[in-house]
Amino acid sequence: MSTLIDDIGELVTNEPELGDGPLGIVRDAALVLDEGKVAWVGPAGRAPAADEVYDAAGRAVLPGFVDSHAHLVFAGERAEEFAARMSGRPYSAGGIRTTVARTRAATDDELRANLRRLVDEMARQGTTTVECKSGYGLTVADEARAVRLAAEVADEVTFLGAHVVPPEYADDSGGYVRLVSSEMLAACAPHARWIDVFCERGAFDEEQTRTVLEAGVKAGLTPRLHANQLGYGPGVALAVEYGAASADHCTFLTDEDVAALAGSGTVATLLPGVEFSTRQPYPDARRLVDAGVTVALATDCNPGSCYTSSMPFCIAVAVRDMRMTPEEAVWSATAGGARALRRTDVGRLGVGARADVLVLDAPSYLHLAYRPGVPQVTDVWKTGVRVRS
Ligand code: NIG
Ligand code: FE
Repeated sequence: MSTLIDDIGELVTNEPELGDGPLGIVRDAALVLDEGKVAWVGPAGRAPAADEVYDAAGRAVLPGFVDSHAHLVFAGERAEEFAARMSGRPYSAGGIRTTVARTRAATDDELRANLRRLVDEMARQGTTTVECKSGYGLTVADEARAVRLAAEVADEVTFLGAHVVPPEYADDSGGYVRLVSSEMLAACAPHARWIDVFCERGAFDEEQTRTVLEAGVKAGLTPRLHANQLGYGPGVALAVEYGAASADHCTFLTDEDVAALAGSGTVATLLPGVEFSTRQPYPDARRLVDAGVTVALATDCNPGSCYTSSMPFCIAVAVRDMRMTPEEAVWSATAGGARALRRTDVGRLGVGARADVLVLDAPSYLHLAYRPGVPQVTDVWKTGVRVRS
């Protein structure tokens, strides 16, 4: 079934050759979706016939958001921990173990229901590509279950057995790293594309990170890394050294880190919701963009450091508090996310792209940052199928 989206006031294509600026903006446009792909882009009123017609009535249309960093396989929540942080307690990665205990105790169907609820919540807000990590199981069986369940609903699955050292290995982190790099990896690799490590003081150090990344690469996975979230450290340099698709967080960066990212194929994925929810300083997006680093924006949706699923919220914070322009933030939440996942089929609306489309109840993408907190995403298609109307 083909769909013509007509009378688009402002179409963001992210294809500079199709329109103005880096967002490739076409005014008074139309779009035809067919067989899950964009089949035609051109001026309003000139499109070929389609099975159904949707009248965008002069509103803005964008590629669906690409959320390239989320932890959605978990049970329970940690609202009390958030409240304590707002009263001054610092964020600690130790809270992850609370969610690990709840997740291990949950049934497959409970985890599945929570996962679907979150993916639906994301879709209603315009997210059409979701990356999902394991990391709240931390046993061979629980991590294997996490990647298997994630693969049922997410576009991209990441094995994050190296999230924290679980309590039963508290005195033997080396033993846990060996488990992650052998039996656990073997059980998880068939369901995942990516290998991730939380490289941070209190989680995994440089040597441990190397061990896990090297085992992951041998098992056919591609690295992405949690790096430099809570302090300066080796994470970003390792991400670049191992050719990671992305270094995520990037809150504490030296000049060397920025230079390494700028000269690499590694995207810096910034997660504004985390600093919002932990009261940490925001990453310096301006410094990265000005240095020529490719920047993505993602939610990091998880029950601890950031429980938002909203890409529009992340765009608004990135513009207001991280000094990104609205144009840069929207690019980073769509095309940037696609780069962080090494995907060429999403995050853009040229012919042949996946038919992932959102309609804003606004005349321009500018309204995403201009009207924070307002639910402006009205209609969404994923692979040409309406997921929100
Ligand atoms: O990306 N930093 C490590 N992992 C998550 C937080 C997980 C949690 O607090 O439950 C993150 O922020
Ligand atoms: Fe994360």
